[in-house]
Amino acid sequence: MTAVRVAVIGLGTVGQGVVRLLKNNAAEIARRVGRPLVVTQVSSRDPHKARDCDLSGITVVGDALQIAREADVDVVVELIGGISPARELIEAALARGKPVVTANKALLAEHGNRLFAQARKAGVSIGFEAAVAGGIPVIKAIREGLAGNRIERLAGIINGTCNYIVTQMQEKGQSFADALRDAQKLGYAEADPTFDIEGLDAAHKLTILASIAFGMPLDAKSVAVEGITKVTPQDIQIAQVFGYRIKLLGIAKRSGQGADAGVELRVHPTLIPETTLLAKVDGVLNSVLIRGNAVGEVGLYGRGAGGDATASAVVADLIDVARGLGADPRHAVPPLAFQPDAVQALPVLPMAAVASAFYLRLKVADEAGVLSKLTTILAAHDISVEAILQREPQGHEDAHVALITSVIEQGRFDHALAEILRLPFVREGAAMLRVEKFD
Ligand code: HSE
Repeated sequence: MTAVRVAVIGLGTVGQGVVRLLKNNAAEIARRVGRPLVVTQVSSRDPHKARDCDLSGITVVGDALQIAREADVDVVVELIGGISPARELIEAALARGKPVVTANKALLAEHGNRLFAQARKAGVSIGFEAAVAGGIPVIKAIREGLAGNRIERLAGIINGTCNYIVTQMQEKGQSFADALRDAQKLGYAEADPTFDIEGLDAAHKLTILASIAFGMPLDAKSVAVEGITKVTPQDIQIAQVFGYRIKLLGIAKRSGQGADAGVELRVHPTLIPETTLLAKVDGVLNSVLIRGNAVGEVGLYGRGAGGDATASAVVADLIDVARGLGADPRHAVPPLAFQPDAVQALPVLPMAAVASAFYLRLKVADEAGVLSKLTTILAAHDISVEAILQREPQGHEDAHVALITSVIEQGRFDHALAEILRLPFVREGAAMLRVEKFD
């Protein structure tokens, strides 16, 4: 049986994991594919660096473009991340008629529409299971396992670094800065953690999930993004008193009907009831909940990063590619779950029109009438208070009032908040977070 020859661009943690996994599980994989899957070439910026995988029998080169174009390679795996040169390398492989497997969420979220069109023209596939939630097979679950459903909503913890940080803040009472430092020491967060903590990585993943869930083109710019840098241990603690956990969630949801039909696409720290499945997902783990109109709620949980877990997703894609080699591409599973000519843009709701409950924490002077003035403003905007807590001020300190509102469009809440913040007894340092109950 002729082996399927795999070239791996990028020999970092995931690249090494792929080499290891294809060797360790070679027999099992060959039984699944019907022929062996063998890494024949890898490219690395430093070909002589020691690696945590057996490279015997594999040609290691410094020039990634060379292996993207190599005649005796059947499939190219791109694992260098970032936009350039990853994009040019994938384009080069597709131009030579080679299928591609990638874990590159940023590239797909930003330039995926063009890359998928190029792949379609070339009659080859782009596999990207590893781009979202590492080892969790969420792409396949939505695209194939739930293909009979109209997907109503998905919500997920899709950034392990942020989940580690908020878990540490919750469990150890650490500040954001201390928890981030620990995450960096443990190798979860990058030296420059911006992408993770500002929610951009989660937004890229949500872009991909929304596209395959709703059949809309990839459009990273349509996601409203807020990271976790303003989350404080105090808010985590108060949320806990209210019976909630704070998690960075990616949420994609259908909303409106008929002419008003659209979607909400948002990444932000969110209070979720402590009894929900997502609230129990701690540390670096990821989880995605998907609601289909036939199946109801489906939950996936697992490792969203790491060499071996992400390699598991890359190799699953390689197996799909290998099984489809030589088959008529017109009958392949469409990469974005919907037939390309059926992919349709959907209006994305501005955040002002997105409705949720809100958590509000205010620092206020300790004087009579504060609560009544607050609730009067909220009532005037038709916002009901569902829960309220005031901590007894210590000595001459200001008091802290925290409350959870009824569900209201953000635009209306913002108007009420602006009025509240103008009240003379309200001090600087208010916190506002969205609340989702998943009912
Ligand atoms: N940096 C990501 C995370 C993993 O922390 O989840 C790769 O997307």
